[in-house]
Amino acid sequence: MCGIVGFVGKQDAAPILLDGLRRLEYRGYDSAGIAVCGEEGIAIAKSRGRLQVLSDATRGGADLPGVMGIGHTRWATHGEPNDINAHPHLSRSGKIAVVHNGIIENYMELKISLLEKGYTFRSETDTEVVAQLLDYYYEGCGDFFEALNCTLNAVDGAYALGIICADYPDRIYATRKDAPLLLGYGEGENYLASDVTALIRYTRDIVYMDDGEVAVLSDKGIRLYDRMLRPMEKEHHHIDWEIDAAEKGGYAHFMLKEIMEQPRAVREATAARIQDGRIVLSDLSMTPEQIRAIRKLYIVACGSSYHVGMVGKYNLERLLRRNVEVCLASEFRYSDPIVGEGDLVIIISQSGETLDTMAALREAKKRGARILSIVNVVGSSIARESHDVLYTWAGPEIAVATTKAYSTQMAVLNLLGLYFGDVMGTVDYETYENAVRGILALPEQMETILAKKDRIREMAKLCVDHDDVFFIGRNLDYALSLEGSLKLKEISYIHSEAYASGELKHGTISLIEDGTPVIALGTYAPLFDKAMSNVVEVQARGAKLIALTTDSHAAAMAERVDAVISIPDTEAMLLPQLGVVPLQMLAYYIALERGCDIDKPRNLAKSVTVE
Ligand code: M6R
Repeated sequence: MCGIVGFVGKQDAAPILLDGLRRLEYRGYDSAGIAVCGEEGIAIAKSRGRLQVLSDATRGGADLPGVMGIGHTRWATHGEPNDINAHPHLSRSGKIAVVHNGIIENYMELKISLLEKGYTFRSETDTEVVAQLLDYYYEGCGDFFEALNCTLNAVDGAYALGIICADYPDRIYATRKDAPLLLGYGEGENYLASDVTALIRYTRDIVYMDDGEVAVLSDKGIRLYDRMLRPMEKEHHHIDWEIDAAEKGGYAHFMLKEIMEQPRAVREATAARIQDGRIVLSDLSMTPEQIRAIRKLYIVACGSSYHVGMVGKYNLERLLRRNVEVCLASEFRYSDPIVGEGDLVIIISQSGETLDTMAALREAKKRGARILSIVNVVGSSIARESHDVLYTWAGPEIAVATTKAYSTQMAVLNLLGLYFGDVMGTVDYETYENAVRGILALPEQMETILAKKDRIREMAKLCVDHDDVFFIGRNLDYALSLEGSLKLKEISYIHSEAYASGELKHGTISLIEDGTPVIALGTYAPLFDKAMSNVVEVQARGAKLIALTTDSHAAAMAERVDAVISIPDTEAMLLPQLGVVPLQMLAYYIALERGCDIDKPRNLAKSVTVE
C-alpha cells in the first residue's frame, strides 16, 4: 500500500526521499512523487509508474533543492494511477502539500462543500480534499496547527498524513489514524516513514505513532502531541536488524532470498522457545489458569496468514480437543461475531498493520475477548493493541508474496498449540516430545528441500504455458494447498484454485480436461490412499499431475504421476511446514519462466492498509 517518507535536516531532502521511497517499493505502488520546500516555496515532481521514472525526471532529486520535504508511493484507490492523481497534492494557494496513506471515507461530502466555497480540484483523489480543507481553515484562522486540528475533526476514515506548509519551511506535520506511521530521530535531522525499512540507513532510533497523535518535525527535534493536542513524550525503540536484511544479497529476487532464509527464520522463531525439550513462551503473559479457562478459540487473519490459521485449525483441534474457528478478518469484523469474555482470539499478521485484521482485533477486544497476536513487525499496531504478542522473528520480509513470514507464523502457532495442550492436559507426553523433536529438526529438513531447486525448476515447466492450475489435498494437505494456490496466482498470474480433494466430484471436476495441470498434495500419511484415488480420478479425465508427498511415499506416487517432489518424513502436524517450501519454489520458478515482476506483482501491496 502507499508509502510515506519525510525528511527535514540540513542536507538536500530530495535524494533522501527518493532513497526512502525506493526502500518502500516492496509495499506495492503505481505512481510516486515528492514535494520539497525550497527558497521559492514548494516544488513538486510526480509521475505514474516506477520510481526510476521520477528519479530520472528529477535528476535523482537534484532539480528540487531544499532541506525539507515529503515523498509518497501511491497504490491507487480513488482515481486511476496517473501523474495527476499521484501524491503529493497541493492546495489551492500552492502553500500546502499533502501525502496520504489510507482512505478519507467522507471525502465526497467534504469535496462538495469545498466546491461550494469556490475550490476546484485537479485530481480524483480523496487526498486532495485534505490539502484543500487545510487551505480553507488556514486561510480562515491563520494558525496552521489550528487548521490541522479543524481538518482532522472534519475527516472520517483511515489516514497517515505527511504535510508541509510553505509558511513554515522548517517543519513537517504528521498524524495518523488506522494507518502506520513512525518517526525517526537523527542528529540535526529527523524523519517520517510508513515503515522502518525506509529509515534504517539513516537512523535506528524510532518512535511509533499511535492513532490521533500529531508530530511536528524540524531539524531541532520532534514535538509530539496526544489526541487532545497536549504535548507528550513517547517510548523510543531501537531497531537492531542489519541493513543487509532488507537488501537482496546477491539473489535475483527478494522472494527467492526469503524462501532460502526459511531454515534460519524457523530456527530463530523456535529454538529460543525450546529449553531442555520443553516449550517456554516467556513472552506470553497468560497464566495456566487463564489458559485452562479459555472458552472458545478463534484464529482471525487475512490472505496467507489466514492460511496459517487453516493449518492451525487442524493442528490445534487435534492437540486441544476443542473447536477452533478460523475467520477471515474482513468477514469477522462485520459478522456481529459471537465472541466475548473467556474467548481467546489469535490474530495472525506479518505486517501487524493489515486494516481488516486490525479492525477485527478491535471488534473482538471491544466484546471482551483476550487477544493474542502472532506478528512479525515489532511495534506494529496489531502488536501494540494485543494483550499478548508472540513475535515471529523472521526479519524484514520485502517480497509481496510472503514466504518466511508464513513459515514462522506456522512455527509459532504450532509451539502455542503444544504449549496450550500441555497446560490443558490434552497432549500426551509422547506426542509432545516427538513434536518438539520434529520442530528442532525442521531447519535441516528444509535445507534438503531447498537443495532440490533445480528439480523443482524443471517441474515448473509443466505449468508455465497453462491458464488454469488446480491444487488438491485433504486435511492438512488441503490447508496447505490454499497457500500453494495463492502463491502461484499472485506472482505468476495463472488462475489457480485449491480444492479439498473430496469436493472435486461435486462440481469442479468438470473443469479438468486433457492436459490441465493438477498439483496433488499427498503428504498426510493417514489419508495417502485417499490422495492416490483422487490422483487417479483426475488422471482419468486427462489431468497432467505434479505430486507432493513424503520421501516414504515418493516411489508409490511416482508410479502414477508425471512428476513428483518429496519432502522428508516428519510428525503429521509439521508436514505443512516442509510442504510449503516446494510449493513456494514452484510458484517462483513458474513466475520466473513467465517473466513476471516477482517481488512486485501487479495490483498487490505488501501491507494492506485499506479495506
Ligand atoms: O501482513 P499480513 O500478514 O496481515 O497480511 C495479510 C495478507 O495480505 C498477506 O498474507 C498476503 O496474502 C500475502 N502477501 C500473500 O503472499
